[in-house]
Amino acid sequence: MSAPKFVKIVEVGPRDGLQNERRFVSTAQKLELIARLESAGCRAIEATAFVSPKWTPQMADHEAVMRGLQPREGVSYPVLTPNLKGFDAALAAGAKEVAIFAAASESFSQKNINCSIAESLARFAPLMQAARASDIRVRGYVSCVLGCPYQGDIAPRAVADVAKALLDMGCYEISLGDTIGLGVPTAVKKLIEVLQDIPMSALAGHFHDTYGMAVANVVAAWEMGVATFDSSVGGLGGCPYAKGASGNVATEDLVWLFGRMGVETGIDLEALVDCALWISEALGRAPASRVARAIAAKTSP
Ligand code: HMG
Ligand code: MG
Repeated sequence: MSAPKFVKIVEVGPRDGLQNERRFVSTAQKLELIARLESAGCRAIEATAFVSPKWTPQMADHEAVMRGLQPREGVSYPVLTPNLKGFDAALAAGAKEVAIFAAASESFSQKNINCSIAESLARFAPLMQAARASDIRVRGYVSCVLGCPYQGDIAPRAVADVAKALLDMGCYEISLGDTIGLGVPTAVKKLIEVLQDIPMSALAGHFHDTYGMAVANVVAAWEMGVATFDSSVGGLGGCPYAKGASGNVATEDLVWLFGRMGVETGIDLEALVDCALWISEALGRAPASRVARAIAAKTSP
């Protein structure tokens, strides 16, 4: 399989990027973030999560975010739904695409969604049925694919089993979550080899950058044929239920990387960096991404 010439970026900043922020980011700021991402050319933007506000307070305004969206033609706005309750609320608020999230680690599954892996899959069955009945696309996540904060190493076979179960349930794509960034390129390649039962076109890479390996891992997956990557503007992010998780790979790092390699992403780097600077300033910090900082240093007076 040759490396793809076009890469689809799923911008997860408004959800994964913000979910771990302690200070509440206003609904208006979240909506402005989404609008700026759209203007930069992002065509898949994970908008929010219909999770329990007790578990993830930053996503408590999920309904207001969905209702406040002004959907643009050609842009999808998936939202996280852990169960039928979240799905029903998302549907009522106008969601057209959702994402379910399971884990390859039993301990992480318990910490994150308060049930075992098998229970989570059973919980997704009625959700998938409801999604089919309402013509809603469902994306599937598998977390901890390259290591778990509680269990350590995770066998690629365990990832393959959960990924296949999600695919068989009807997920159109499986996003492989390196939740705390333990992956390195050799492990990424080994994992993708074990996932032979999943068509390459149905795989996405979701790399967190805790140890600075996310870009290397993206390149390894891309070389294997993966053409979809999740990333977060400004490198924002972290999971409240994964000790030590830091931000997703920065979207501007991917747009810079693929642009320099002659691979199309459809995203305007300058507009994206402006967005990274804006949200970072709103959160009171410098962007995590060196690409954003370098471009900002070149263009500032
Ligand atoms: P639970 O406490 O076991 O739920 O939480 P329950 O079914 O026992 O219900 C308890 C209460 O929660 C009830 O309310 C329910 O109505 C309510 P009460 O009667 O006490 O007032 N409830 C809900 N409220 C709103 N929305 C819902 C919902 N469901 C039940 N959907 C639950 C189970 C799954 C809900 C909880 O554990 C949860 O919300 N977990 C999500 C945690 C989270 O947001 N994690 C971060 C996202 S995952 C991630 O970051 C990884 C990823 O990026 C990939 C990667 O990097 O690997 C995707
Ligand atoms: Mg994540």
